[in-house]
Amino acid sequence: MLSTSFSIPCAALSLLAILNGVLSSPIVIDSRAVLPLTVNTIYQFENIGSWVENLAVQKNGQLLVTRVDTPELLQIDPTNKFAPITVATFPSTYSGTLGITETTDGIFYVVAGAPVNGSFIKTSGVASVFQINMNTFKLNSKGIITCNATVHKVADLPNAGFLNGMTTLSDTLLLIADSYLGVVWRVDVCNGESTIIIDDPKMKYLPGAFTNLGINGVKIRDSYLYWSNTGNPIFSRIPINSDGNATGIAEVVAAVNNSDDFVFGPDGTAWMCQNQLESLSTVKNGVTTLVAGNPSSIILAGVTAGEFGRLSTDSHILYLTTNGGLGVPVNGSITTGGKIASIDTSVY
Ligand SMILES: *[C@@H]1O[C@H](CO)[C@@H](O)[C@H](O)[C@H]1NC(C)=O
Ligand SMILES: *[C@@H]1O[C@H](CO)[C@@H](O)[C@H](O)[C@H]1NC(C)=O
Ligand SMILES: *[C@@H]1O[C@H](CO)[C@@H](O)[C@H](O)[C@H]1NC(C)=O
Ligand SMILES: *[C@@H]1O[C@H](CO)[C@@H](O)[C@H](O)[C@H]1NC(C)=O
Ligand SMILES: *[C@@H]1O[C@H](CO)[C@@H](O)[C@H](O)[C@H]1NC(C)=O
Repeated sequence: MLSTSFSIPCAALSLLAILNGVLSSPIVIDSRAVLPLTVNTIYQFENIGSWVENLAVQKNGQLLVTRVDTPELLQIDPTNKFAPITVATFPSTYSGTLGITETTDGIFYVVAGAPVNGSFIKTSGVASVFQINMNTFKLNSKGIITCNATVHKVADLPNAGFLNGMTTLSDTLLLIADSYLGVVWRVDVCNGESTIIIDDPKMKYLPGAFTNLGINGVKIRDSYLYWSNTGNPIFSRIPINSDGNATGIAEVVAAVNNSDDFVFGPDGTAWMCQNQLESLSTVKNGVTTLVAGNPSSIILAGVTAGEFGRLSTDSHILYLTTNGGLGVPVNGSITTGGKIASIDTSVY
């Protein structure tokens, strides 16, 4: 039990009632819900091996999700009205899709990854960034595409190690985590130029870590770049300027084990996806709290990334992607198909 809520014994309540006259309303000491938070499955792929990696929420509420195991971008309806719709398929020289971010309205960028081996060392090809213009994408009432998204490559990154999470610095500049090299690349989508803009020891995996993945998710908040690190159990940040240059030193925000991507909630709480721990934790005021999933449960097995809804009706809903436990199987042997899940965070 991880509940932090508690009730005041009746006797104490009676005493308070006597002291205060009439007790007009219940005393709320702590509104946090009983943990773990409830996980709802929106859509689960049948096939074991379906590695759902990352997601972006469109202005219209529809989710765009990426897959590490196949170079595709899918649209998923959070109400599950339609089966997943393939928005874009990238050439087979790419092994899969990873980070995704929006710059201006409806303009998304996606990382298409080059094949790597089990040590995350590239075996062929080159990683690229593609632009996906969703403003041209139209579906009919049956969920059939009547007009495709417009897709074009904006950059090749031949010197990248393993590109992973991505975020928006400006309308034309993207920041991408390179998990293998432990650096952040800046990509200019106008001219395709890429440069290592931040290289910090807190972005590297530790020597002897269980994986060769360091920095994983990246997000900008209040002029700080925050990042998770899979192979070093720290969640860190560094101040940056409008060019993405560091303007100060990196600092550790909290200790978080096995972190994949993460997202900030409206109140500044960070929601950390702990892929190999099949768990979701929050970081608030430097304190890490397990809020859903656990290493022996399939409910959030291999949780990879999260994003909050953008409609007035779902801005409290955290949407999550999973790989079904492919990184570390539940109890050593159990894997399921990857999925898209949701958690109502208003009760937390
Ligand atoms: C990946 O490739 C590198 C370079 O060829 C090699 O040193 C490493 O052992 C390979 N890792 C795996 C898991 O095959
Ligand atoms: C959308 O693109 C797919 C894949 O290239 C193609 O099969 C389909 O016909 C296109 N749909 C429309 C409406 O153009
Ligand atoms: C960022 O760093 C580059 C290279 O040192 C420099 O040219 C640029 O002016 C810097 N940008 C800002 C906003 O300080
Ligand atoms: C992280 O893992 C270490 C080693 O297994 C453990 O001692 C520590 O309690 C974990 N931290 C959290 C916040 O779960
Ligand atoms: C994993 O093992 C634990 C302890 O034996 C058990 O309670 C749990 O149900 C198992 N998980 C699954 C998904 O079978």
